[in-house]
Amino acid sequence: MISKAPWVYGYMNWLGIHPQYQRRGIADKLVDKLIEPMIEEGARFMLVDTDPANTAAVKFFTPKGFGHPRQHVFFSLNLTKDEIYGRLIAYERDRSERLTYRRPRRR
Ligand SMILES: CC(C)(COP(=O)(O)OP(=O)(O)OC[C@H]1O[C@@H](n2cnc3c(N)ncnc32)[C@H](O)[C@@H]1OP(=O)(O)O)[C@@H](O)C(=O)NCCC(=O)NCCS
Repeated sequence: MISKAPWVYGYMNWLGIHPQYQRRGIADKLVDKLIEPMIEEGARFMLVDTDPANTAAVKFFTPKGFGHPRQHVFFSLNLTKDEIYGRLIAYERDRSERLTYRRPRRR
């Protein structure tokens, strides 16, 4: 659920059906089941996203009533390869290794 005054949105992050069970109406039922509690929680809009090249998803969502498609640009950053964040990740890794290290017991 996303609250962005004055609207409350239900956002479906990911939907996937095992290829062996596709085209049996499962995703259709799942989406209906998901929307019900979202409405109870106050949602009046529902957001979904997919790659425009994902024709199965586009063909699934469109007859389901989802419309107004807008294209977004997604950026990503590999934190491990970033000069500063990479050092922070290494620091956190070393710290957790230090914390899990147990000094051998004296006999
Ligand atoms: C998109 C996806 C979730 C659909 O799941 P599904 O259970 O197969 O969908 P349904 O059986 O409920 O389909 C309902 C209707 O949507 C349309 N549809 C679904 N998949 C379709 C496809 N591959 N091609 C064309 N139309 C399709 C059809 O109109 C279908 O009704 P019909 O089978 O009676 O013709 C499934 O293809 C999937 O898991 N894809 C991989 C993951 C993914 O890309 N998820 C979407 C991004 S969030």
